[in-house]
Amino acid sequence: MAAVRDIDMSDGGENSAAEAVELAKRHLVQPWPYAGSIGSEARSLIGGGEGIYITDGEGRRLIDGPAGMWCVNVGHRREELARVMYDQAMALSYNTPWYTMNEPSAVLAERIAAYAPGDLSHIFFTTGGSSAVESALRFMQFYNNVRGRPEKKLLLSRGGAYHGSTYLSASLNGRPRDRDWMDVADGLVVKLSSPDPFRRPADMTVEAFSDFLVDEFREAVKRIGAEKIGAFVGEPVQASGGVIVPPPNYLRRIREICRDNDILYVSDEVVTAFGRLGEVFASKEVFGIEPDIITFAKGVTSGYFPLGGMIVSERLLQDLRKSNHPDAMYAHGLTYTSHPVGCAVALANLDLVEGGILDHARAVAPYFQERLRTLEDLPLVGEVRGIGLMGCVECVADRESKDALKLDYEVGKRIDAHCHALGLLVRPLIHMCVMSPPLIITRSQIDDMVAILREGISRTMDDLRKEGVWRG
Ligand SMILES: Cc1ncc(COP(=O)(O)O)c(C=O)c1O
Repeated sequence: MAAVRDIDMSDGGENSAAEAVELAKRHLVQPWPYAGSIGSEARSLIGGGEGIYITDGEGRRLIDGPAGMWCVNVGHRREELARVMYDQAMALSYNTPWYTMNEPSAVLAERIAAYAPGDLSHIFFTTGGSSAVESALRFMQFYNNVRGRPEKKLLLSRGGAYHGSTYLSASLNGRPRDRDWMDVADGLVVKLSSPDPFRRPADMTVEAFSDFLVDEFREAVKRIGAEKIGAFVGEPVQASGGVIVPPPNYLRRIREICRDNDILYVSDEVVTAFGRLGEVFASKEVFGIEPDIITFAKGVTSGYFPLGGMIVSERLLQDLRKSNHPDAMYAHGLTYTSHPVGCAVALANLDLVEGGILDHARAVAPYFQERLRTLEDLPLVGEVRGIGLMGCVECVADRESKDALKLDYEVGKRIDAHCHALGLLVRPLIHMCVMSPPLIITRSQIDDMVAILREGISRTMDDLRKEGVWRG
């Protein structure tokens, strides 16, 4: 294991951890804040990172369990990526994409297109995942306007989905907490059930559950009318919904219904692309589907630079080129579309991914899944699930009823706090802990991760018992 630089942030100087915490409390608005602490909240300070590890404000080394936010796929402190960013910034730091272009974006587009399934051939680069999904949705609207069917705009999405924080992308989100206090364009979105096999009715087999989901989809199309539905948007694996791996063949069947009804299938691979499931893209290689549009972000630069994009099918572009409205404009673009530094680092990142990291991810994924599943013997754990290097430990108050709500606690946060003290950063999601480590994680590091998680959950069980809120 490589040594981690000592980061001394406790000297009381200008950049000390304590000072940063104070400054944050006075001036930072953190993402997903509560009204009661908005603009006055400090979070765990992270001072540095190397490989699969990060260092907190007290200099404690932690395994980066969520790889930042499902993104630091090739690990922290990769000198080759830092150098490419430096070199590109020195060569060309920025150019306007409105009426100029740069070489890294063209080369990257060609390399990404080579991995994309079917006739997905063109890339529109964005600044991240939300803007990628937003771009895809606005593209669908434009496409149907140009094709003379402006009423074909409704979106199908599912419970448990997370697609972003811009207005339209957020309107697709299916987790209740994301919507409780926020306005969304509800009139544009029709919600279907989450494809969560763990939460299927007790007397239903997984196969019957899959049939139920497909029937529900088909009936929604029939009820609403295909002529009103522009697109279905779905993550191959619902990530922030708690690593929901759909039933076998379900996505393939949904794809067929979309094709039969001229509904665009948008596969949101913001999390699953660039190696997390052992492939550059998971839609076809893992789930057997060729979407009309794929959205990506995160792993494309391993989080070293904010970049995302959508890959569009050649057929859709041809439809537009051949339409009766050659002067209709897709009036959509971002100042940082095709950013040269982002595209350059993405190319270097892809070199790393191709140069062994994909193979490594494929090789260790079964071990990661097997070790994580050993936690199922803990009575607080209802299910451990996952695929590739994505995993989730779902806690329940009672294994029979699978009831999580009775706990009335953010159990994930408690587990995270114990794990933090023990050397592991966890992604807590209400009563779940999500793990998606850097793809370079080794078998022995997986052992360390699971051992800490076991201890963190055990300590949480002790706390809950002591407080008399759980009797497992
Ligand atoms: C599947 C999916 N789509 C879109 C997004 C939004 O991406 P971003 O936060 O980069 O805007 C996320 C973020 O986690 C995501 O998981």
